[in-house]
Amino acid sequence: MTTAAEIEQRLPAKLATFVRSVRFADGVATLVADASGLGRAAATELERELKAAVSSIEGVADVRVALMADKVQRRIIAVGSGKGGVGKSTLTANLAVALARSGRKVGVVDADIYGPSQPMLLDASNSKPTAEGQTLIPVESEFGVKLLSMGQLVEPGKAIAWRGPMTGSALGQMMDAQWGDVEVLLVDLPPGTGDVQLTMLQKFKPAGAIVVSTPQDLALIDATRALDLFRQANVPVIGLVENMAGYLCPHCGKGSDPFGSGGAEAAARALGEDFLGRIPLAMGIRVASDTGQPPAANDGELGEPFARVADRLGDWLDRA
Ligand SMILES: Nc1ncnc2c1ncn2[C@@H]1O[C@H](COP(=O)(O)OP(=O)(O)O)[C@@H](O)[C@H]1O
Ligand SMILES: [Mg+2]
Repeated sequence: MTTAAEIEQRLPAKLATFVRSVRFADGVATLVADASGLGRAAATELERELKAAVSSIEGVADVRVALMADKVQRRIIAVGSGKGGVGKSTLTANLAVALARSGRKVGVVDADIYGPSQPMLLDASNSKPTAEGQTLIPVESEFGVKLLSMGQLVEPGKAIAWRGPMTGSALGQMMDAQWGDVEVLLVDLPPGTGDVQLTMLQKFKPAGAIVVSTPQDLALIDATRALDLFRQANVPVIGLVENMAGYLCPHCGKGSDPFGSGGAEAAARALGEDFLGRIPLAMGIRVASDTGQPPAANDGELGEPFARVADRLGDWLDRA
């Protein structure tokens, strides 16, 4: 009579290394295999090969394979601002691309219901997410960043009529999607500090938050509001980023400061928060963003400030 030990012995060596246990009773072989580190496709293939190998053994009527995988430790990082138009989405997209370039597995959730812009920023407007059962499968952008956006789930303009519960459930579906090996999930929050934001923070507990501000005083008051939102939700603030911080002239390459400079850094200091860096106001950033070419995807003057902020975030992730 066939035994579990015999089944184990008869496994080809290349499959046996994955197998952690074999049980055999009433013609049914049950194998537990360790698929840690294998991608989805490789894990499916392993399962198929194990089934084929074991079902050919005499006396085995049925084979069940349970795959274990080490759970990816995924951390959510929220990117917020007190108001719209400060470059929150631009920063989120470029941070994601820069982190991916430095070897991290990154995903982006575009939670901005009324003004989703990540599909454009990450050049993924033409790809729609698929689903497995109830679970959404994010789109792979060409920059090595996975993406789900409200803009991919509803037609432009349609979400405007949505009420709280609907937006909440759509947001939940994006957060609980099949993120696979993604270890850092950046969430582009809707601008402002309303209920959607607070609920989202309380429900999905980001590991940390980044606040974006422009150098103007008014924007900084808004940034303070965003800080309060994160503190209220007990989300650790990683730091402040100053965007549009000085104009980089495309003609002469010289910098100037139409909105003043250093305001966000001083504010960060006064508020007891870290300052993560400053992104210049540059025509090239706007043009590249509109055409789905995030500056952070390339080496160069415009990508560099994003890469520096991404390094700071990377340090924080390694420390936290
Ligand atoms: N540093 C920058 N230099 C030039 N244009 C920028 C910069 N940051 C953002 N923009 C532009 O400003 C507009 C608003 O940016 P966006 O990222 O959509 O802001 P938010 O998400 O905060 O509403 C966009 O047209 C974007 O291309
Ligand atoms: Mg935005």
